[in-house]
Amino acid sequence: MWSANVSRADQLTISSISATSLAQEFGTPAFIMDEVDFYDRAKSWDQALGTAFGSHAGNVYYAAKAFICVEVARWIKEIGIGIDVCTGGELAVALAGGIDPSKIEVHGNNKSVAEIEKAVSAGVGTIVIDSLFEIDRVAAAAQKFGVVQDVLLRLTPGIEAHTHESIATAHEDVKFGFSIASGSAWQAIEATRTHASIALRGFHAHIGSQILDTDSFEISAERLIALLAKYRDTFKEELPELDLGGGYGIAYLPGDEELLPTVVMNALAQAVKENCAKYKLAHPRISIEPGRAIVGPTMFTLYEVGTIKDVTLENGNNRRYISIDGGMSENIRPALYSAEYTAVLANRTSNAPMLSTRLVGKHCETGDIVIREISLASDIAPGDLLATPATGAYGRSMASNYNHMPRPPVIAVKDGKARVILRRETEADLLRLDI
Ligand code: LLP
Repeated sequence: MWSANVSRADQLTISSISATSLAQEFGTPAFIMDEVDFYDRAKSWDQALGTAFGSHAGNVYYAAKAFICVEVARWIKEIGIGIDVCTGGELAVALAGGIDPSKIEVHGNNKSVAEIEKAVSAGVGTIVIDSLFEIDRVAAAAQKFGVVQDVLLRLTPGIEAHTHESIATAHEDVKFGFSIASGSAWQAIEATRTHASIALRGFHAHIGSQILDTDSFEISAERLIALLAKYRDTFKEELPELDLGGGYGIAYLPGDEELLPTVVMNALAQAVKENCAKYKLAHPRISIEPGRAIVGPTMFTLYEVGTIKDVTLENGNNRRYISIDGGMSENIRPALYSAEYTAVLANRTSNAPMLSTRLVGKHCETGDIVIREISLASDIAPGDLLATPATGAYGRSMASNYNHMPRPPVIAVKDGKARVILRRETEADLLRLDI
């Protein structure tokens, strides 16, 4: 939930820098990022993949959508893992960070021709094809630039993953990929084989996000392998790769479990081995795409309390509203997915009695709730600092300028030093697009 270098004694500190000094130096709201924890998490996924799959381990592709900026792209390069991008914008950041194009995998269910051409001409390692139209478009781009582009086909293995409806992606009724069950996957395979400028390397599936059990991942692998076998039986050759996507869940609340890299990689390795043996297939190279599990726990959001209000409810009870200086513009997840967070008093400790509280933002909207119900010290006052952990994934990356709020900065902390890696927007930034 909290990153490795956060501690809470007299006040919240990260790598021995206090929340108070971070707020003074960088202002609030701010995303505070534990740089060392990011490296450790990325490496632990890489190591777990390597240990579980040995010589059959492919790449960890960090899912940029969870959070990316140029500095983090440089870290990815230094760590030596790959990156999954799903738009031309994410591709631009990955390239600006110096990531080797061969370690870039390009996703998206509606890549424009311009995006495809940019990816192919940059020399990206893999394009994950999502529709029949795209087969022709990628083939044409590859022909234009005189290359043979490696591709995977994105498949929907028909799995109802145990997660929020909006972030489950592999049941039948979704916009992504080709369905195995309906035969559209087979149609895509045949269409791909008609083009000399694209090389089909294998299949991809991403079944959803914030998944906490290993079963759905194992079933997904099993279904992809069954299709690899059908391919081999039909065309008398084997495809060498599977990408099993991301989606590994993290802890948001005290007592929540997270899906550990070793646990899920070992379960997957077992499932892949068994199914390859069952179909007498050579073991394919296995890649994965964790986003949230790498970056999610590495950040917390630091807020300042602005106003406090006690409201009498219909049943006569009191509800305390604490307003902080951010809200749904930098954390849309509670409003969008009913996602739950916790918060702590960050600048001091308190022995005051706890009070049932609703933590809200400063947006002009009733649904601007960061935490619907939390027990917080009753002496919290304007000027106090609050911190919400586990906001690294889909926090800053989904932030908006709703109500013309400038988006908060990301401050990286390492070895007792804090620095801005993505600066705070200014009013000038907000005005820069107006004609
Ligand atoms: N690979 C593909 C093809 C994906 O679509 C995604 C996420 C990932 C990998 C990374 O999944 P992760 O390991 O981060 O769970 N905004 C939502 C999450 C949407 C995820 C979309 N795709 C949220 O805030 O929960």
